[in-house]
Amino acid sequence: MPAASCCVLSSLLVSALLAQPPAVHNEFRPGERWPDTDGVHINAHGGGFLYHNGTYYWFGEHKVEGRRGNNAWVGVRCYSSKDLYNWKNEGVALAVVPDNPAHDLAAGCILERPKVIYNAKTGKFVMWFHLELKGQGYRAARCGTAVSDTPTGPYTYLRSFRPNAGVWPENVPDERKKPLDGIEKIRFSGGGLPEGYTIEQLNIFARDFEGGQMSRDMTLFVDDDGRAYHIYASEENSTLHISLLTEDYLAPAGRYIRVFEGRYMEAPAMFKHNGRYFLMMSGCTGWAPNAARSAVADSIWGPWKELGNPCIGENADKTFFSQSTYILPIHGKKDAFIYIGDRWNPENAIDGRYIWLPVILRDGRFEIRWLDRWSLSWFDKKEQP
Ligand code: DGJ
Repeated sequence: MPAASCCVLSSLLVSALLAQPPAVHNEFRPGERWPDTDGVHINAHGGGFLYHNGTYYWFGEHKVEGRRGNNAWVGVRCYSSKDLYNWKNEGVALAVVPDNPAHDLAAGCILERPKVIYNAKTGKFVMWFHLELKGQGYRAARCGTAVSDTPTGPYTYLRSFRPNAGVWPENVPDERKKPLDGIEKIRFSGGGLPEGYTIEQLNIFARDFEGGQMSRDMTLFVDDDGRAYHIYASEENSTLHISLLTEDYLAPAGRYIRVFEGRYMEAPAMFKHNGRYFLMMSGCTGWAPNAARSAVADSIWGPWKELGNPCIGENADKTFFSQSTYILPIHGKKDAFIYIGDRWNPENAIDGRYIWLPVILRDGRFEIRWLDRWSLSWFDKKEQP
């Protein structure tokens, strides 16, 4: 065969191979690259999930390459799936704003942990996320909201703010409901407390009473009665808040509690099982993994009881090198929940991986164990570890 024809043939062969549809997945492989239905590694970090009319939607931070990928240059990406293994890229659900550095969502801001819930009364899909204004590090500590008529969007940005301005938490004694003298002079270093001060002396929620409470890592939870809650790391990350939303899910309703005071928890994920509320959180070590925490309550308003690290086995002390972002109930399967965590890669943010593992419900608590590969049939097994 002449050399030229051979070249044409081999390039045809290469194109044919490249055009092959990507493999159909039928199992989870935690920590491995996870190609979407176009064959591209899923780009939806710090994700939130929505089940609506037979389809799961996955919303997450679209990351770009390198360290700069830890900031938002694209926005929130959305994927859809019927089976939880194979995800179709549905495009950018909420875009950052490229040409206006003064905009809340200016490209280069920090936009993390987007979560979407559906409001049956208004028929709207409501997105909340953690927002840090461009060039201000993590100082702004705001939440942001956006809304859409369809699950995949595009979502219309509404506003960003610190929640619960002018509202006292329900579970503090009256004597703490006043700002400390000279509190504005106190400077914070890093994520910790200034030397010599205790959480009680600082009374951070009182410092932030007027301007609103700090809101960083966050999740949303919709209860069986349709009430929705915003759960966020507040008070310089020292204490979590659980805050009721208005009926349209667009704003805080003016009722909130403080939980796990001074325990420095991030990455909250909530689920409900047999009428009890469960929370999973991480400690506070930036992008580096740490031992997870868990807690249970009979009422979302508490009291909350800590249950310790739910992870068991090798690397449990590092949450299998991941950090919680969501605990997903599987539609139509009883007692079936999936732990969803991020294995961050801050040096090359786009290559962050996803850790999905089954949640084992046992003795009034939950456990998570490592599996290299698994599928939803795991939940059908009678004998679980
Ligand atoms: C841990 C948080 O959980 C992440 O969402 C992100 O904010 C990093 N900290 C930043 O260091």
